[in-house]
Amino acid sequence: MPVEQRDVHNEAAFDVIIATADYPVIIVTTAAGQERAGCLVGFAGQVSIEPRRFLVGLSHSNHTCAVAQRAQHLAVHLPDRDNPALAELFGSETGSTIDKFAHCDWHTGPHALPILTASEAWFTGPILQRHDFGDHMGILLGLSAASAPNRALAASRYSDVADVPPGHPQ
Ligand SMILES: Cc1cc2nc3c(=O)[nH]c(=O)nc-3n(C[C@H](O)[C@H](O)[C@H](O)COP(=O)(O)O)c2cc1C
Repeated sequence: MPVEQRDVHNEAAFDVIIATADYPVIIVTTAAGQERAGCLVGFAGQVSIEPRRFLVGLSHSNHTCAVAQRAQHLAVHLPDRDNPALAELFGSETGSTIDKFAHCDWHTGPHALPILTASEAWFTGPILQRHDFGDHMGILLGLSAASAPNRALAASRYSDVADVPPGHPQ
């Protein structure tokens, strides 16, 4: 396989394309033993229909990634664009220094995962595979439970939260 050559012009064009795509963002939560974790995630998406499969990219430097290494399941929440506080909390604070779950409403869901009450749309899944993708770890999820919103919900997109300073340097 050819070694990837770094090219700043290609990387800048790539960054423009990704910003233009303006992907939705999600909030991932997880639990291992008594420890809970969660963060805002832009690197995520469905990768199979039958069976349902979803890929999440977690930065190796994030507290959530450390807990996810020991967890068996993740929960994926679709934050409401009209309620940016939740995305801001999970994107700008780190579980290394604060307990984010002391600052929001949540309840215990399937597999003892913390489910964020303000997010009506969520699903849970078992961690099927972990891959080192570089500075992020790829986590492949199956599907075990899901809750769809009862009303039209506007998903938060990258452009809605681009100004949120990440709680952990990437
Ligand atoms: C717009 C945006 C997108 C982000 N995307 C990701 C991502 O895909 N994966 C990730 O691990 N962190 C991502 N982050 C950063 C984490 O949400 C942030 O560093 C968080 O504070 C980490 O919390 P933790 O240390 O408790 O896990 C993103 C942050 C923002 C603002």
